[in-house]
Amino acid sequence: MQQLKPEQTPERGMWSSRFGFLMAAVGSAVGLGNLWKFPYLAGENGGGAFVLVYVGLVVILGFTLMLAELSIGRHTNSDAYGAYNKLKKGWGFIGGFGILAGFLILSYYSVVGGWVLKYVVASITGVGADKAGYFTNFITSSVEPVLYHLLFMGITAFIVIRGVSGGIEKAVKIVMPALFIMLMVIVLRSVTLEGASEGLKYYLTPNFSEITLKVFVAALGQVFFSLSLGMGCMVTYGSYLSKQEDLEKDALLIPSLDSLVAIMAGFAILPAVFAFGFAPGEGPGLMFITLPAVFESMPLGTIFSLIFFILVFFAAISSSISLMEVTVAFGIDRLKWSRKVSVLVFTTVMFVIGIGASLSMGAWSDFLIPWIDGNSYGIFDFLDVVTSYYLLPLGGLLSALFIGFVWGVPNAVKEIKTGGNFRTEKLWSVLIKYIVPILVFVILLSTTGLLDKIIG
Ligand code: TRP
Repeated sequence: MQQLKPEQTPERGMWSSRFGFLMAAVGSAVGLGNLWKFPYLAGENGGGAFVLVYVGLVVILGFTLMLAELSIGRHTNSDAYGAYNKLKKGWGFIGGFGILAGFLILSYYSVVGGWVLKYVVASITGVGADKAGYFTNFITSSVEPVLYHLLFMGITAFIVIRGVSGGIEKAVKIVMPALFIMLMVIVLRSVTLEGASEGLKYYLTPNFSEITLKVFVAALGQVFFSLSLGMGCMVTYGSYLSKQEDLEKDALLIPSLDSLVAIMAGFAILPAVFAFGFAPGEGPGLMFITLPAVFESMPLGTIFSLIFFILVFFAAISSSISLMEVTVAFGIDRLKWSRKVSVLVFTTVMFVIGIGASLSMGAWSDFLIPWIDGNSYGIFDFLDVVTSYYLLPLGGLLSALFIGFVWGVPNAVKEIKTGGNFRTEKLWSVLIKYIVPILVFVILLSTTGLLDKIIG
């Protein structure tokens, strides 16, 4: 047991081991973003072209911002809002943005988590011959998906109530390694399917003419989403870390493992898409439609399907608990609520927003919300678009600027160095102060369509 500092009250908690923290951070990062979103985004955005841009952005942004958030968190031992406010009075709003983003993300994330639970059940009952039809029927119905959403939200709350080391850490230590092994098995099956080579080619050969601004925008949002960056999630997780932790190593390891899983998920899904004659641009249904087809083609498919969707569910839960922890830490630290009250209040509100997201797939599909990019979105898409493409990159941009020009790079460097030597100090200093803000700013501008007008 580590000595608790005054700020580390039992109500806050702390990681009990380095492995536990790493699995929790990787568990936060690896989730539906990798297994569900990444393959379909790659499928919609030119396959290899998307993968290339994605990996490039992870290398530049992933490491830099991961290290930034972890150092802010550990230095302040606070929730996302309190962390920024402690470093400079009046700057808590950066964390506040993040808390709002996490709140909105979990509201629809939990709906997709519910779909996964449904597919755990469907692995046994079977999805029939028309895989696409089965999926569409399910998500557009009004009652069943909401009940699964409630179940997913409830399980998340149940774990978060148990606290940092007792609940979160215990669960992820088993789940993450198991997921990895299972994914490997499915990749092997998928790439050896007859007709898989078309998919492999699509996935692995970047067609440079397809690298458009749109691909950059999609990849940027996905980098933030998949790495759990831009909303203070890693600030919060970093706040439960000891001073001996080597943050630089963590900031290299977490994005690497996360990208590995995302790329493996692409290998699991895209070859199968081509082998079974589906279209790669299928969108959010991709995983739910193609994987059942893959499993059907395997001996013992039912069992594989069952195990796989259970693991996807665990991956989703280890992410959803991190999303919830951000809001809950805010409730505990700022509002002085107990962990229990915090969890119950936030869960209820997120559940209600999620009902809207779920219904927007069917009954409420005509209800559209206009957004500054000139489009109107259903509730589900609205929550996704506003958070992934606007709030998270904006949060990342602000946190980089905050370190560069408010808290100061030397202070951050000092914090990072308490846990070990910092080999990439010079590089990181330039990245966080100049490169990352400029890169994110330019892509953000183009997201709203402003850049088109500026460049002419
Ligand atoms: N990274 C998770 C995923 O890929 C989702 C997630 C968890 C997240 N915590 C986050 C996204 C914080 C953005 C910010 O599924």
